Amino acid sequence: MSTKRILLIIGGGIAAYKCLDLIRRLREQGIAVRVVMTKAAQEFVTPLSVGALSNDRVFIDLFDLNDEREIGHIRLSREADLIVVAPATADLLAKMAGGHANDLATSVLLATDKPVLVAPAMNPRMWLNPATRRNTAQLKSDGIHFIGPATGEMAEANEAGPGRLVEVLELVAAIEAQLAAQRKPAAAVTSSLLAGRHVLITSGPTHEPIDPVRYIANRSSGKQGHAIAAAAARAGARVTLVSGPVSLADPVGVAVLHVETAAQMMDAVRESLPADIAVFTAAVADWRVAGSAPSKMKKARGAGPPKLDLVENDDILRAIASSRTSRPNLVIGFAAETDDVVGYARKKRKSKNADWIVANDVSPSTGIMGGDRNRVHLVTASGVEDWPEMAKDDVAERLIARAAQHLNRTWVET
Ligand code: CTP
Repeated sequence: MSTKRILLIIGGGIAAYKCLDLIRRLREQGIAVRVVMTKAAQEFVTPLSVGALSNDRVFIDLFDLNDEREIGHIRLSREADLIVVAPATADLLAKMAGGHANDLATSVLLATDKPVLVAPAMNPRMWLNPATRRNTAQLKSDGIHFIGPATGEMAEANEAGPGRLVEVLELVAAIEAQLAAQRKPAAAVTSSLLAGRHVLITSGPTHEPIDPVRYIANRSSGKQGHAIAAAAARAGARVTLVSGPVSLADPVGVAVLHVETAAQMMDAVRESLPADIAVFTAAVADWRVAGSAPSKMKKARGAGPPKLDLVENDDILRAIASSRTSRPNLVIGFAAETDDVVGYARKKRKSKNADWIVANDVSPSTGIMGGDRNRVHLVTASGVEDWPEMAKDDVAERLIARAAQHLNRTWVET
């Protein structure tokens, strides 16, 4: 496999120093890193130290005529597989959203046709400001991918909230995921398999609030659902991914709706219909807390633990698969079980009115929950197929190929 190349644009924030570690980690993974620094970034780290780690010259000024002659901003973009902006400041996001091109970094970003992954880092109040929210929403709808920001203590004293640059290793994983999505440029046949179709996918866990700071959740990572969304996009489909809270980057070429709770997931799914195929991978919480507390619950001495009243969440898969008006042609559910995997999956297929159930054993000893590999059984009306253990990306690819085959055959027959 040829070396992958990142163009890293370092913005001017206190988190810029973390890019030194980022460059080192990426190079350890065999990824070549070329760097553009904004003027403000140079106040935080020097081009000299960045260049020493990237083992390449560092690009800093749009109007350096030599650069323009030897290697212009178009070439910087052309020679990269992915552009990463980290830390992306509020100012840089605003310039990107507005289409500015008044320095090398923004010129590259405006001129590029490569995927762009942005890791914001700024003061929480700047992140929560309506202007930044507006710019972020605009960039997302322009197809820019976001990772973070994380929530926590800021470098400034007494500041906490959303705005920290994600951990370097998380950023490395998001970059690798973006590169992996490009790794399999689908063959002509594959890329047209689902052309003109709409595929709707749910992924990740849901968080059900107990009070403003506590919630009920589960261990789903969203890896399998996100991989299916990426595979469907590679197969040429229009893809909508309704994702619960996960720490994965949005897949390339996919419209992502971010939700927290099961009720929000249901609303987002309904709003995204009609679809030709729906794949329900999300580990939706079965219960939510009835009337979650509007303010943080406090321990009252001697009162003992609070009693939580739980109510059942609506079953999204069952509701959509049983819809008379908007049932997708092919409805696929998942069943994560710890015993009698196929037995429960068969029952779920019938009781939820799904066409197929992808069942897997998620006992802790399998390492499937949160891991990168999966061993599934495909339960259909005509029987059970046991698939060998493979990467979650490969399960996704195979499932999408099967779904496309099924849909195309059904269409020919009817
Ligand atoms: N599912 C859903 N909405 C729910 C619960 C589950 O859409 N409220 C979907 C999941 O996305 C999955 C399938 O239903 O595709 C099976 O989920 P699972 O949690 O295994 O099923 P449950 O009905 O919750 O059964 P269990 O008693 O095993 O938890």
